[in-house]
Amino acid sequence: MTDDTNSSNAMWGGRFAAGPDAIMEAINASISFDKRLYAQDIRGSRAHAAMLAATGILTHSDAEAIGEGLLTVLSEIEAGDFPFSTALEDIHMNVEARLKALIGEPAGRLHTARSRNDQVATDFRLWVRDQADAAITSLTALMKVLVAQAEKGADWVMPGFTHLQTAQPVTWGHHMMAYVEMFARDRSRFEDARKRMNECPLGSAALAGTGFPIDRHMTAQALGFDRPMANSLDGVSDRDFALEFLSAAAICSVHLSRLAEELVIWSSAQFRFVAMSDKWSTGSSIMPQKRNPDAAELIRAKIGRVLGAAVALFTVMKGLPLAYSKDMQEDKEQVFDAADTLMLALAAMTGMMSDLTVNTAKLEAAASSGFSTATDLADWLVREAGLPFRDAHHVTGSLVALAEKKGCDLPDLSLEELKSAHPALTEAVYSVLGVHNSVASRQSYGGTAPDQVRAQVARWQGLLA
Ligand code: ARG
Repeated sequence: MTDDTNSSNAMWGGRFAAGPDAIMEAINASISFDKRLYAQDIRGSRAHAAMLAATGILTHSDAEAIGEGLLTVLSEIEAGDFPFSTALEDIHMNVEARLKALIGEPAGRLHTARSRNDQVATDFRLWVRDQADAAITSLTALMKVLVAQAEKGADWVMPGFTHLQTAQPVTWGHHMMAYVEMFARDRSRFEDARKRMNECPLGSAALAGTGFPIDRHMTAQALGFDRPMANSLDGVSDRDFALEFLSAAAICSVHLSRLAEELVIWSSAQFRFVAMSDKWSTGSSIMPQKRNPDAAELIRAKIGRVLGAAVALFTVMKGLPLAYSKDMQEDKEQVFDAADTLMLALAAMTGMMSDLTVNTAKLEAAASSGFSTATDLADWLVREAGLPFRDAHHVTGSLVALAEKKGCDLPDLSLEELKSAHPALTEAVYSVLGVHNSVASRQSYGGTAPDQVRAQVARWQGLLA
């Protein structure tokens, strides 16, 4: 990989008599990972060269040779036969050195009025912006799958949990739409971050701007940015766009991990609420009966990497004096890994959720057990018999204790038994003890009633169309 370790660096070695120590080179070089920025680097350089020609800083023929040569470099890298060199440190110098080999002297003029500091800030912004777009697209796909699940099961009754104890019956559709809301906020976080990051650092040069008459608006526009960044020190020194991306990715990973955990629980032998298709489960090499939800478990775990990346970059950036410091080279691997992890987790979750088989009979049976309609009974006493809620709660509690003692559920108690707890209880109360009536009654805005769920499904189908 290395070619000229014994001589000084061809790009900046003018004042150096000797090349770097091998360990210096190992700690300093970023080419092993920042080669991933090649397309952004070449795009940025082409925009820069075109601007240098338009402003008369370069001749048109030099700029043309540079632009063409950069396209050759691009195709060489894409063909997989580019000789990446560790001695040339990073993607910026690798590309430039190859350009020199291809076109000769004009290549040396490309770096006029810029620095690797604004170059890397620009490349990295372009890369992170692409990832924000990819996250937005992937989240939209996942939301569509969840909305489709919600539409199918708008009235499938299942137990709703608090403390993972049966609380009240809810609907499958309601549960699915809860995640739609979470992922929608995740998506809007990426959209917000994208808006703020869409300013161009190119032309900040090393840190102070440049004496050459560059046109930063032209390069900003050519690279699809809304405007150039207004302060050159800020342009080369902040990585808040990467921190925002990682923060949004971490929150999204938290949401993914919660849904993944539910899939793990729901697919267990004790629940059997859902079955993952063969495509999304694995067998055990020793226990033939096993169907393991590996993909869900891994999605549950991936938050560790994504949050780890966020913590790492926050830690790198904390306390750094303006403007550029080499510390910031540590930004890339974290963001690369977090972005890869997030995209994979989103794709896997989307696939799993679209393939999921839901055992509606199991859901309903579970919803009907565990005294899930106790609150409905208490509410009935408030509504029909005028009891204060605290008293109604107490009466209901005594009936739950009685049912528990008898080993039955609330609807299995006789009218005499109900009346023994409170004389106002009548035959009519049985209607609210059924889980379907229970969910249908929860018509408050955002509640679990199938009508409410269908209204939310329709709203999101419109928004996602
Ligand atoms: N590889 C460097 C990075 O990723 C590029 C910028 C180097 N700038 C410098 N002044 N040494 O941050």
